[in-house]
Amino acid sequence: MSRTILCIAITTLIFSAFSIYDPPLTSDYPVSKLLEVLGDTPLPHKADTDMNRVSVERGRDLVINGLSDAAGKKSKRVSKHFTCVACHNIEREDPDLANPDPETRLTFARDNNLPFLQGSPLYGIVNRTSFYNGDYVKKYGDLVEPTRHDLREAIALCATECSQGRSLKKWELESILTYLWTIELKVSDLDLSPSEMAMVEKAFEDGSDRNQAIDIIKSKYLDHAPATFVDPPSDRKTGTGLEGDPANGQLIYELSCQHCHFDHPFSYLTLDNDPLTFRHLVKEAGTYNPHSIYQVIRYGTSPTGGDKAYMPQYPEEKLTDQQLADLLAYLEVQAR
Ligand code: HEC
Ligand code: HEC
Repeated sequence: MSRTILCIAITTLIFSAFSIYDPPLTSDYPVSKLLEVLGDTPLPHKADTDMNRVSVERGRDLVINGLSDAAGKKSKRVSKHFTCVACHNIEREDPDLANPDPETRLTFARDNNLPFLQGSPLYGIVNRTSFYNGDYVKKYGDLVEPTRHDLREAIALCATECSQGRSLKKWELESILTYLWTIELKVSDLDLSPSEMAMVEKAFEDGSDRNQAIDIIKSKYLDHAPATFVDPPSDRKTGTGLEGDPANGQLIYELSCQHCHFDHPFSYLTLDNDPLTFRHLVKEAGTYNPHSIYQVIRYGTSPTGGDKAYMPQYPEEKLTDQQLADLLAYLEVQAR
């Protein structure tokens, strides 16, 4: 063998050996890519980033600001009433992604300065495979069917139904999807124990025990957001019958209600910190009319009349009956 050929052979060997480790499994390595390297079926909703006008920036703009400046001129607002972040967080909102729970989420929201919302987080949504789960079929009926396993359809439905807006153009939808892929789960989000991390790293590097590694990874987050609708307390005078914690109630009022009713112009109704506002809410709570917090929290309001804004309901997974009692306790303290 000539020396040149030997050199080439050695160089190729070195490079191919390195390529297995390149890029290394860092904490910001995307979970979907890790699963693919381990041999899992790729997720179906990859974005078409080659389409004209599609970009991460435009997608982010559409999600946060409700419009984008494609081709230099501002596009029409998707919705007159809302932007996606009215109802969905774009940050991680659950300390334990495998067991999302509204009580720990509230504390996490306080510590991380996040709103506490009815919609599931868009952070990590591309890692999920099923949408509008559980009782949402009761609300949206047949509209839910095409969205169940199709993220594009889920986004399209939310633009027109949840946001009460127009339908998205193709480049807008692909831009949103492209942006959502930038906020997918990363290895650090899995919170692997040191031994699990070692196992996954080994599988990543030498291909051993791949299925076990895939199982470990998938046990660390939910592939869907469950949704259970609950009725308001049957007797609104006695309410939930639970003793409320006003400090928790204050968090709900400030991080959830005021997100739409004070911090942003998402509703004509202003819920400020005036004792009159609190008295009004307390007085209405025990009634059976549409202003009762029990009514609006558990059933939402419907987009009727000229003003098509509406309030989405909170399923049990987004606000518990205990939290409802906490909110009332806070309102009562403030109404005094
Ligand atoms: C007024 C509130 C509201 C607005 C505005 C809104 N959504 Fe939603 N969205 C919801 C609710 C409620 C659901 C029900 C399922 C869930 O999130 O748990 C939902 C569901 C979704 C889902 C499926 C999530 C799942 O896990 O089932 C996606 C994706 C989505 N929305 C994207 C968007 C995008 C993108 C926008 C902006 C164009 C948007 N939404 C605007 C309230 C809203
Ligand atoms: C995602 C945004 C959003 C959140 C969060 C939200 N609301 Fe609303 N709420 C609305 C919208 C929109 C309406 C409909 C009124 C309108 O058109 O502006 C509404 C309506 C109401 C009404 C009834 C007004 C009427 O005219 O019938 C009450 C009371 C109310 N909300 C209280 C609350 C309380 C209490 C919370 C917190 C637990 C809360 N809202 C959280 C958006 C929101």
